[in-house]
Amino acid sequence: MTRHFLRDDDLSPSEQHEVLELASRLKADRGHKQPFGGAKAVALIFDKPTLRTQVSFTAGVAELGGMPMVVDGKLAQIGTRESVEDTARVLGRQVAAIVWRTYGQDRIETMAGHAGVPVVNALTDEFHPCQLLADLLTVREHRGTLAGQRLTFLGDAACNMAHSYLLAGATAGMHVVVSGPEGYRPDPAVLARAEEIAASTGGSARVVEDPVEAVTGVDVVSTDTWVSMGKEDEAAEREAPFRPYSLDNALLSHAKDDAVVLHCLPAYRGKEIAADVIDGPQSVVFDEAENRLHAQKALLAWLLEHPENRGDRP
Ligand code: NVA
Repeated sequence: MTRHFLRDDDLSPSEQHEVLELASRLKADRGHKQPFGGAKAVALIFDKPTLRTQVSFTAGVAELGGMPMVVDGKLAQIGTRESVEDTARVLGRQVAAIVWRTYGQDRIETMAGHAGVPVVNALTDEFHPCQLLADLLTVREHRGTLAGQRLTFLGDAACNMAHSYLLAGATAGMHVVVSGPEGYRPDPAVLARAEEIAASTGGSARVVEDPVEAVTGVDVVSTDTWVSMGKEDEAAEREAPFRPYSLDNALLSHAKDDAVVLHCLPAYRGKEIAADVIDGPQSVVFDEAENRLHAQKALLAWLLEHPENRGDRP
């Protein structure tokens, strides 16, 4: 069975640790591994806008000795012009791995079910697990450890980032809180899965409505746009309910004095985060952006070298 990375909990706690260790090693020595040596191609498919993800995967695949091949989702029209299943069968015969940013999680699961090569989730409506590997690497660098750290995500607690914090944070043994207004709560199945993982790692996963209570005493505060890709029509109606969750210095002052601030970017200053927070001394947002490269390289190298994936085409 080919191993994929479609959701944060596709890596066990020990596997997540292995990938993060490899990411630190690759950060110190960027040419340390060449799993795509001989210029194997990797398809990078984008059905939604991208900047960091396209650049970090393109640079990362090249640094791993492979050939990154960006596929414009608008041209490919996967699922419309050609079924996801047929697309997977075609790509799987030509590339060594598939990285896909798309809409529903069902689409990437179908791709993984038919590709015969590793498939990596580069953001779906439900999860953004590659971002979380970068976030965990960043927290580990700045806080020294992951297990036991308290992290709060503010804003759209129903979005992909909230879901990924719950799963990846619980996997790392962290205490994760997601905090957002009524009507924007995580999928109960994802929350239940995070609680199940946390029970085995010593972490925890909770929803806390009050933003001050959610942030008080934590080590890490994170936020994200209030309007995820695909939700643009809801921008106006989201403004009022999300306003109390805006991460300004007053709200941040309730966290630990040395708490660090994360944001997956792109950021909307004055909306979900104040300019003096994202540009302030507690922000590690641009380390986090850099770490996309190192974390994704580690993930790809780990997947390519996984014993269950060694027999994959091509
Ligand atoms: N929640 C955001 C993340 C952007 C990287 C979105 O899906 O648009």
